[in-house]
Amino acid sequence: MCSNRSAFGLLLLAWLASVTILGVEAYTTPPPTTANCTTVSTFDAALQECVVQLGIAPERLDQEYNLLLYPADRDTMCLVRCIGVLLRFWNDTTGLREATIRQYYEPAPEDQDYQNRTRSCLAALEPSVTDVCERAHRSFLCYHQHYGYLRKTDRYVPKTPLEMKQIQQDCVDVYGLDPARLNHYQDGQFPEDPETQCFVRCVGLRAGLYTDRDGPNIDRMYIQCESCADETLFRAKAGECIAAQRRHKLSKCTAAYRTLYHCFRDDQLDLYASLTTAAAAATAMTTTTTTKKSTPPNAIPALSVRKPSDRAKLSPDAWQLEIILEGLYNQKY
Ligand SMILES: *[C@@H]1O[C@H](CO)[C@@H](O)[C@H](O)[C@H]1NC(C)=O
Ligand SMILES: *[C@@H]1O[C@H](CO)[C@@H](O)[C@H](O)[C@H]1NC(C)=O
Ligand SMILES: *[C@@H]1O[C@H](CO)[C@@H](O)[C@H](O)[C@H]1NC(C)=O
Repeated sequence: MCSNRSAFGLLLLAWLASVTILGVEAYTTPPPTTANCTTVSTFDAALQECVVQLGIAPERLDQEYNLLLYPADRDTMCLVRCIGVLLRFWNDTTGLREATIRQYYEPAPEDQDYQNRTRSCLAALEPSVTDVCERAHRSFLCYHQHYGYLRKTDRYVPKTPLEMKQIQQDCVDVYGLDPARLNHYQDGQFPEDPETQCFVRCVGLRAGLYTDRDGPNIDRMYIQCESCADETLFRAKAGECIAAQRRHKLSKCTAAYRTLYHCFRDDQLDLYASLTTAAAAATAMTTTTTTKKSTPPNAIPALSVRKPSDRAKLSPDAWQLEIILEGLYNQKY
């Protein structure tokens, strides 16, 4: 299981570099026209596409899948994996992204035990099951059978590093910025000049992680962060920081920069992380599943967010965190 620290770090870095990642245009902007190739953000759309992709008999849709039946045959198991890949709640290496799949299920109001049931179910998935379709299917069923009702509406699909990169490029283009700026940004340098402030806003808007009216979307930031563990603490700390910034009357770009960058950059993450360590044990299922443990921080090759001169002062832990943060900003992995 990854440390809480790294979880926070990932989250933070993820936002700027990955703010662009979030594909949830549904709430803020019209869906991209390339909808068929890239963006599927409802469960049914992913289901439809995967039935076609895998050549599964279409009548199974009405006879089984639309009735919420997902039996343990080969086709169905791989169908579930395909849906998970498209909606990005499944990764063959790291397993289930729980903050992502959770969006598709609505717990019944009277159900007090759905988290415990889901967690026990996931814990019962033996490591000896190595087939990815079978693992995906078993993990999915824990949510499908225990967490709540399937929600058919548009949900947030976390952005990939590639998508984030494209968003950054788009924003440089939109604002006619010197392309060399992208190098600074990808090295984690975001100076407080007007162009950079507007760049940060642009990335936040395009990624669906930010609106001028509401500020950063903390829900999506959390989903975007693959390994952030302590959701309660993350929300509380990020919320505090954003609220403090938003008390000032600022231009649109400055407000975006202050809330997105200042509230989610590395030193802020350090702060969240140190708080998290104490509180983490108490948190619920987000920290517990079979799938969270992978992704060692150093799996993300990246440069430091800080200037090289600062690096010597960092503790080994901070260094780890930095690597994560960098990964988020740079999306070089
Ligand atoms: C996407 O696919 C659907 C059928 O699955 C089709 O009706 C629609 O026209 C396609 N849209 C685009 C933009 O190609
Ligand atoms: C799955 O996770 C691994 C490790 O984080 C990553 O390298 C890989 O790109 C991911 N695969 C997909 C399809 O996202
Ligand atoms: C869920 O599990 C925890 C610990 O395993 C336990 O303390 C708690 O009472 C359980 N909640 C419910 C509603 O059963």
